[in-house]
Amino acid sequence: STVDGNKRVFDLRASKGKHDFGGETAETFGFNGDYLGPTLRATRGEQVVVNVHNGLDEVTSAHWHGMHLPANMDGGPHQPIGPGATWSPTWTINQPAATLWYHPHPHGETADHVYKGLAGMFIVDDPGTDVAALPREYGVDDVPVIVQDKAFDDDEELGSDTGMFGSGGVLGDKVVVNGALGPYFDVTTERVRLRLLNASNVRPYHFGFSDGRPFALVGTDGGLLDAPHETTGVTMVAGERIEIVVTMRPGERVVLRSTPAQLGLDWFHRRISGANDSFDIMELRAARSLRPSPAVPAKLVDTPRLDPAQARHTREFSLSGTSINGKKMDGSRIDAAVMKDSVEVWKLSALDGELHTFHVHDVQFQVLSVGGKAPPPHLRGWKDTVFLGQNKPVVVIARFADYADPATPYMFHCHVLRHEDQGMMGQFVVI
Ligand code: C2O
Ligand code: CU
Ligand code: CU
Repeated sequence: STVDGNKRVFDLRASKGKHDFGGETAETFGFNGDYLGPTLRATRGEQVVVNVHNGLDEVTSAHWHGMHLPANMDGGPHQPIGPGATWSPTWTINQPAATLWYHPHPHGETADHVYKGLAGMFIVDDPGTDVAALPREYGVDDVPVIVQDKAFDDDEELGSDTGMFGSGGVLGDKVVVNGALGPYFDVTTERVRLRLLNASNVRPYHFGFSDGRPFALVGTDGGLLDAPHETTGVTMVAGERIEIVVTMRPGERVVLRSTPAQLGLDWFHRRISGANDSFDIMELRAARSLRPSPAVPAKLVDTPRLDPAQARHTREFSLSGTSINGKKMDGSRIDAAVMKDSVEVWKLSALDGELHTFHVHDVQFQVLSVGGKAPPPHLRGWKDTVFLGQNKPVVVIARFADYADPATPYMFHCHVLRHEDQGMMGQFVVI
């Protein structure tokens, strides 16, 4: 980025390319390169401008997933960027330190554009909600890990066959990290923070290490947890992010792995969403001597809890097939009008046996309950994307602060991208 007066300016240029994944080459899309895009990074209080140039020969867009910002800067289907055009949204970063991401959102083509490679990480820094003792040297002990599954075919095209039962979209039989097959990372410090992003179209992962070692879950979609949660595995659906800190011994090697995700789906739906599969994701190779790192503090941040007694509205959204509340996305229909600065409770359910998730733009929410019970540790922090188990409604609460625009909607949708493209999406305005 460059700094122009009091603005931080980024330039992104979407174009076609051919990417060498390390043993497989394929025609791809990328921002400022063949595949994926640069990590953008800005600090709370800064005004950012992103000049997004569309060098493709089709319409795309650039959505800032997880970002709290005005609706007309959000980059959803209502802010298309035509071929050859440049769109320059600007906003002020106004949320806790978090690992966010960006990707296109053109209606009907989101799955294709993300799958071909248009995605990147957007790290928000905020001294007020960050913890100095966590690893923080980008690329050294603070590492972005963008996980995607890919199917390669013989014609240097990324496979797009969704199969007879592939209602969730294409499932790849290989996993790439930051665009590389079979990756490893040279660890030089005692502790490493991995910022994991599931940027796959449908596939869930259950991440853990090959030797079963525990690690500290320190952050989820919208920021750090109040306290680290020590665990040996975390499940992530598409669109979610987590931050974990793993401790290494000198000279050792350990593999970050994904094993079958226990989402409560039946055998058939596990199969077609890829939840049955196992993958080696990335090897960590520790140097013979490691620079010491501070211990992960027992207390991280203090998140104010939203109070359901303050909720002005309770809404229900039920997902089934490719519809929400029985309706498919209609760009001219507003499904909810929310009062600016109000708190709302949304009750989210999945009615069929398929893998569905719920993502909402503009806000980070807090999970009040899952299937009537208190949320598990990995759902106790700020979230913008959540798995919906069948007959296990997820009740969330959010404040729709700061930005009102009755003319421009934000989206909510299933983040299984094929479902979203097929209409499992709705629109709300903040007024
Ligand atoms: Cu990550 Cu509406 O999207
Ligand atoms: Cu989003
Ligand atoms: Cu879905």
